[in-house]
Amino acid sequence: MAKLNAAAVLPLCVVLAFLAGQSAAGRYYSDPVQNKVRTEVEKAIAYNPSVGPALVRLVFHDCWVNGCDGSVLLDKTPTDGTNTEKKAVQNIGLAGFEVIDTIKQKVGVATSCADILVFAGRDAADILSAGNIFYTLTGGRKDGVSSSASFADANLPAPTFGVDALKNNFAAPGHGFTTEELVVLSGAHSIGVAHLSSYQDRLGADATPIDPDFQAALIKVTPPDLLKKGQNPTVPNNARDASSAFRKDAAYDPVALGVNPKRGVLDNSYYHNNLVNKVLFESDWVLRTDGEAAGKLQEYRDNATAWNLDFIDAMKKLSGLRAQGKTLEIRKNCRLTNQQYYY
Ligand code: HEM
Ligand SMILES: *[C@@H]1O[C@H](CO)[C@@H](O)[C@H](O)[C@H]1NC(C)=O
Repeated sequence: MAKLNAAAVLPLCVVLAFLAGQSAAGRYYSDPVQNKVRTEVEKAIAYNPSVGPALVRLVFHDCWVNGCDGSVLLDKTPTDGTNTEKKAVQNIGLAGFEVIDTIKQKVGVATSCADILVFAGRDAADILSAGNIFYTLTGGRKDGVSSSASFADANLPAPTFGVDALKNNFAAPGHGFTTEELVVLSGAHSIGVAHLSSYQDRLGADATPIDPDFQAALIKVTPPDLLKKGQNPTVPNNARDASSAFRKDAAYDPVALGVNPKRGVLDNSYYHNNLVNKVLFESDWVLRTDGEAAGKLQEYRDNATAWNLDFIDAMKKLSGLRAQGKTLEIRKNCRLTNQQYYY
């Protein structure tokens, strides 16, 4: 047997350790299409854990704009050219598109890209939550043929939104989500990463309240003037997921806070973090300033099960938002409308 060197083995151990703790494998569906999606999502996350959060976010960013119609996946359309949703400011950092493409190749022409996207997001949530977040979905969605960057920006919330803007955005026609559901879904920020440009407003002296140690730790790893030099690095959304050095600088002790210290888990840690002002976005922190939302933050901090169950309901509702477009189809390629697809 070839001699294994430590540098090669170490990353493998990290991956195996990650999988061992996050197993929600052995989930089987009666629908063969959903089984194929599941297999590919498991493989993709094992290969690159960062696609897990990306797939969960895709559900929000697709279904929030014109309903769940796969419009976020389009690279170009006959009416929008290449100025599709992917170019929207609020879609910065969106990822996981290759996973959707791979799945599309496996499931074939009968399954819409919109179905694939919500199935994949559901499986990612299941895997990242070690089986605590799981819901059933049915297929039958169809794919839209338009995808506009400006329309996406008009519909998606910004991280600089105040609480009234967030509540209005969630309640808006085509969304129809309550303040409770706003608080529930924001808990998805227990996973994944964000670019400096998305939280730079939290690093100044006049920022909305943020824990000073946490703020200093963020400034240390991502000094805001990097933006002026054309750099836009990322940090984990959750201080739990940062390096030990960052956790120390941020005075973030997961155990003392009542948070499972294991990195990468989709759980209620967001609420523990928010109630000590250690969250990234203004749109996270402002939930503390609304009476109803603040009560929900406390409830979900104190009751992990309540959050799991309510998050399940809200994700199922999100995945059921109906496509709004007049022209719908089942795409052959998730990046192109059928009119633009040549084979
Ligand atoms: C309430 C309004 C929301 C705002 C203002 C918001 C904003 C953001 C922003 C700015 C980022 C970082 C993007 C970047 O800089 O790369 C982000 C990341 C993320 N968001 Fe939200 N979000 C909201 C709601 C949601 C919802 C409802 C979900 C899912 C159910 C969600 C899931 C995620 C995930 C998983 C990430 C990490 C993505 C990754 O690592 O690839 N967010 N969000
Ligand atoms: C936590 O929430 C669950 C689900 O809503 C509920 O059944 C349980 O009674 C709650 N636990 C506490 C201690 O309130």
